[in-house]
Amino acid sequence: MQALTNPSPRGVIERYRTHLPVTAGTPVVSLGEGSTPLIPCPRLSAAVGRGCEVFVKYEGLNPTCSFKDRGMTVAVSKAVEQGTAAVICASTGNTSASAAAYAARAGIRCAVVLPAGKIASGKLVQAFAYGARVVAIDGNFDDALRIVRELGARPEFAIVNSINPDRIAGQKSAAFEIVEELGDAPDLHLLPVGNAGNITAYWAGYREFHREKRAVTLPVMLGFQAAGSAPIYHDRIIAAPETIASAIRIGHPASWTGARQAIEQSHGAIDIVADDEILAAQQWLASREGIFVEPASAASIAGLFKCCEPGRAPRYGFDGVKEGSRIVCTVTGHGLKDPDAVGFDLAATVQPNADNVLRAIGF
Ligand code: F0G
Repeated sequence: MQALTNPSPRGVIERYRTHLPVTAGTPVVSLGEGSTPLIPCPRLSAAVGRGCEVFVKYEGLNPTCSFKDRGMTVAVSKAVEQGTAAVICASTGNTSASAAAYAARAGIRCAVVLPAGKIASGKLVQAFAYGARVVAIDGNFDDALRIVRELGARPEFAIVNSINPDRIAGQKSAAFEIVEELGDAPDLHLLPVGNAGNITAYWAGYREFHREKRAVTLPVMLGFQAAGSAPIYHDRIIAAPETIASAIRIGHPASWTGARQAIEQSHGAIDIVADDEILAAQQWLASREGIFVEPASAASIAGLFKCCEPGRAPRYGFDGVKEGSRIVCTVTGHGLKDPDAVGFDLAATVQPNADNVLRAIGF
């Protein structure tokens, strides 16, 4: 029998090897991440109006259903190269799911430190399924990251939070893909902000392709925090952050400076969206465009709606959505990650006959 071959190798490291901190000797730990669809959204474009074209970068279609896999393939590959016995992370859920999967793939151990009772059920299931050692603390994400920084100083652990530059390097790949697909950078790029690694990574990716003349323009970067968890927006640490969007329930982001630089250099903004706006945007995107994302991801869509409302556009250098803009919203995680947050009404139970069913569905 012929050996099985992979006709089209996928994965962030193989696709962007020359832009990443890897060598020919780096073992590649990959699950075929990246190359996610950039979905044109006609209804969203119509809602924005002004002749704008809106695309959604659907990161929920990565192997563990969030954007974290782009950075994790690089971070875990480098950890294996350096002979690390275990990876460790703090997480609001997605980083831990991704770290656990890539550690399993690499055959090394994974420890995750999580805020007790604050992790969406789908993400928690993933960490256990991939065989991570999960420790819940009576504290929030910021406490968990403090502990992980302390433990990560020990030689047996590699930290795979976005304070590890290999994570940011891998996450730049999403910006590369967008430039390759659009033929240039978009005019506006919107994304949710939690620990602020992703906005830092996108901006680094756009600048890199711009320097290499693979993009003529640079986008305006707009980051959205949940109103109850908005340290960068308010410019102060939030001791007890709160939001339904548990992935971005963070009061002291590690990449605060990176986020600030991204918005200042791109003449963008950090703004806030309320939990009810996030849930409404989540439902809008699922029911009008067929794209189901977790609440944190919908912050970018809620943010886009906010930008289009007269008088509500963010402050700083940004002065509104211009006519004919090409706009990309990153939606960071799949909707099935967090089934409990979904505010959709389930159909009522009826007696089993066709008439009742017809009446119930309103036809
Ligand atoms: N969206 C989702 C679905 C996330 O899981 C996160 C972060 C973000 C947005 C924000 O990205 O931190 O780079 O600004 N989740 C981390 C975690 C904190 O532990 O999974 P960021």
